Amino acid sequence: MFWPGEEGGIRCPFHGWKFDETGQCVEQPAEPSNLKMYERIKIKSYPTFERNGLIFAYLGEGEPPAVPDLDCFVAPESHVFSFKGLWECNWLQALEVGIDPAHASFLHRFLQDEDPKDSYGKQFRDTAANTDIPMTQLLREFPAPEIHVEDTDFGMRLIALRDLGNGNSHVRVTNQVFPCAITIPMSNEMTITQWHVPIDDENCYWVSMFTSFGAPVDKEKMRDQRMEEHTLPDYAPIKNKRNNYGYNRQEQETLTYTGMGMDINVHDQWACESMGAIQDRTKENLGTTDKAIAMHRRKLSKAMAVVVSEEDVSSLPLQIGKEQAREIRGPVSIDVIAPTKDWQGVWREKDADRRNACEWNASL
Ligand SMILES: [Fe+2]
Repeated sequence: MFWPGEEGGIRCPFHGWKFDETGQCVEQPAEPSNLKMYERIKIKSYPTFERNGLIFAYLGEGEPPAVPDLDCFVAPESHVFSFKGLWECNWLQALEVGIDPAHASFLHRFLQDEDPKDSYGKQFRDTAANTDIPMTQLLREFPAPEIHVEDTDFGMRLIALRDLGNGNSHVRVTNQVFPCAITIPMSNEMTITQWHVPIDDENCYWVSMFTSFGAPVDKEKMRDQRMEEHTLPDYAPIKNKRNNYGYNRQEQETLTYTGMGMDINVHDQWACESMGAIQDRTKENLGTTDKAIAMHRRKLSKAMAVVVSEEDVSSLPLQIGKEQAREIRGPVSIDVIAPTKDWQGVWREKDADRRNACEWNASL
């Protein structure tokens, strides 16, 4: 239920009581004005900040932590497009698909490669940063990545190496921003920072900020692309469990591994929802490709224990002050090809090239 907003606050549609941004009641139109009963009435309010099309609220106790200088927050509004979509599952399984670098080779397999020139606004359709090999071909032909996971000040960095067998490897750098976000490359020009936000235990929204290091974002085009797959006002996906995610057997033979269309969000949605709204984790079999998921669960368990025991939360990731917030930048999210024996520096170099050429201050 949305309460009608008006200058200086919101008004309850039941009797017209108006509340300001601190939660203080400031008007009760049906009560005698001389009683000033409203002065004693206050509802809970939460500090918020707005950035690049989204409103963030702090629901914890005390002062909110500072907002880190992530690219999606530092970039000007012209270079960020925000959108969201509803998934009918717990937020954690929605997040975990994003820190599983192996699944793209099967779940998002395209049986034909599109012209990368037609890739605007789409995931996995561009080439890696320094090659003309389409991402779809790389993922399809090299399904067994070697996965490295590092602890960072914002969460974790994941590096997936696919040995191309010719002395070079494909290096894909993605990130987990603690506790519920990922930052991943979408194309050479854009990254996606995606929060998985709980609605309740069995439903969540993915909320994405598409951030461009190149030209300003064509928001109309990106919105139109996504509105073909969603309905308002709930941003509910048109393909869902009630219509078998649009599964088409003929498409499965010729175009996509899932037969569920060209939008990779639908593939992920099927994977996350079809395991049940709350996955039974007593019956799962984590493999070596799940190492980031295992590490994230350990960090999450530790953080929950700290919160529940009411210990000082300042040691937890991103519980930061203003000075630290200026130091948490990026994070680097990129696809590159590098020599297999010496891949470490190449992704940083290619990312630095992109940042140096950027119209806004994307320096790390
Ligand atoms: Fe995926």
